[in-house]
Amino acid sequence: MRSVYLNGAFVAENEASISIFDRGFMFADGIYEVTAVLQGKLVDFDLHTARLARSLREMSLELPLDAAQLLAIHRELIERNQLTEGLVYMQVTRGVEDRNFFYPPAGSPLTVVLYTQAKTVLDSPLAKRGMNIIGLPDLRWGRSDIKTTQLLYACMAKEQARAQGADDAWLVKDGWVTEGTSNNAFIITRDGAVVTRELSRALLPGTTRAALIELVKEHDLRFEERAYTLEEAANAAEAFITSSTSFIYPVVSIDGQLVADGKPGKLTQRLRQLYIDHALAVLV
Ligand code: PDD
Repeated sequence: MRSVYLNGAFVAENEASISIFDRGFMFADGIYEVTAVLQGKLVDFDLHTARLARSLREMSLELPLDAAQLLAIHRELIERNQLTEGLVYMQVTRGVEDRNFFYPPAGSPLTVVLYTQAKTVLDSPLAKRGMNIIGLPDLRWGRSDIKTTQLLYACMAKEQARAQGADDAWLVKDGWVTEGTSNNAFIITRDGAVVTRELSRALLPGTTRAALIELVKEHDLRFEERAYTLEEAANAAEAFITSSTSFIYPVVSIDGQLVADGKPGKLTQRLRQLYIDHALAVLV
């Protein structure tokens, strides 16, 4: 049985409980991070703590734990659960109060939960096979840049993809792709430029996205940060997604149309390897 972290203590998962009045449960008034674990260590932890700090700021949440304390908690959980490969999930909510739309007074205790999940990250079948995706309208709220636990539309969109025999969906707003349901969306043009949507309130600033862009630049590959349509993506040379739980997965079809020959792209595979090498080099 796993140990989980709940409000300052490590407890058995079946003994961890939170109030029915928790604002995370009541209002999805919470934020989260998912950090990959390889070889029992954390991937790009600094990028996750920086984004967590940003989410906390945007939501006016004051977490009384600094980056060093968060790292210590993550490490202890990995150690207690003997996790070698998978992820650590962390969630912070605005705590417990009888249902009330207004925030509780500043300084009220937050709810902090962390748990581990074992998962094959490096040797994933989707990395070899590639993903079939569909396009769906982006019906999320206007602050998709904040990593909130309000993920209902992501669930609905993934279910719709599955019902159509696909693996996932890319979301389209005003005619332009924003991102995947739980990942950032990239294409590679026929003249070799790696392209992803510029950051705004419409999409999550992915940690994998950020690290990969640095790698693309370091390796003198062409990079363009701009909007593109689903049609451009379907007619691109290659397409792929990035996230902490997948790293990089090729996209091999979009709305039933094969991307190029329908096989994982060569540059995509190279970028996946570059990212994995980077991840292994920055483990903490
Ligand atoms: N999802 N966009 C969305 C909407 C996401 O939910 C995620 C991550 C990403 C990629 O971010 P990163 O590279 O930092 O993981 C982009 C996580 C993995 C999840 O919800 O499980």
